[in-house]
Amino acid sequence: MAQKELLSHIDTQRIPKHVAIIMDGNGRWAKKQGFLRIFGHRQGVDTVRNVVETAAELGVKYLTLYAFSTENWNRPRTEVNALMQLLVDSIKKETPRLMQNGIRMETIGNMEQLPAGCNQTLRETVEATKDNDRMTLILALSYSGRWDIIEAVRKIAARVQSGNLEPENIGEEDLNAALNTAKYPNPDLLIRTSGEQRISNFLLWEIAYSEIHFTQVLWPDFSTEDFYKAIIDYQSRERRFGKTGEQIRQVI
Ligand code: FPP
Repeated sequence: MAQKELLSHIDTQRIPKHVAIIMDGNGRWAKKQGFLRIFGHRQGVDTVRNVVETAAELGVKYLTLYAFSTENWNRPRTEVNALMQLLVDSIKKETPRLMQNGIRMETIGNMEQLPAGCNQTLRETVEATKDNDRMTLILALSYSGRWDIIEAVRKIAARVQSGNLEPENIGEEDLNAALNTAKYPNPDLLIRTSGEQRISNFLLWEIAYSEIHFTQVLWPDFSTEDFYKAIIDYQSRERRFGKTGEQIRQVI
């Protein structure tokens, strides 16, 4: 279906507020054409730009991208270095466009593990875009869901140890508040490209009620049409949050 026709199937009143994406398949895309893996990542940056702008145009308010996981540090040194360089170059190059499009950039993850120069570039763009409010782009870098939960548990344990919190009073809101994602609503929709049907240690706590859309398309090939299809799929689901269908339809 053509882009325009797909767009006409999207209900603009029910756009997911927060979309999270596991961008997978760059390596396989490159291999298929006989290129080195890094070419797949480079091509993946073009997809990032297009998805960021498409999401903002649709009215998505938060877009979280899994750009580098805690486990990705175990890749060959050359690939890690190339990815870090690509990240720095892309962020520097794209900052004016983020400004033009009213997009704020923020990060989640263990930023201290990133090379100092990379961290510095990220901090500069976070600062430069902090007053933009059309959409917030959240880059997950050196991030994993379990890492964040452990960090949060440490913060809560310190509150207990200092006598500011009783163990029996610990609730969901304490964990929510201690996570890197504390400021953001939970994702409504999680997309994973490349045909893998796993969560791979992404927002483990936050996706408890997210709709999940898996697509076979490799990340460098993920188009505006594919993003529209994910939104249409999301809008076809009935989100019940543990209630019955009848209870939900009464509210609607
Ligand atoms: C997964 O493909 C992709 C990554 C680990 C990196 C994603 C990074 C980018 C798209 C570029 C930089 C990002 C920004 C935000 C500018 P894979 O290598 O696991 O692919 P494979 O499963 O086919 O090997």
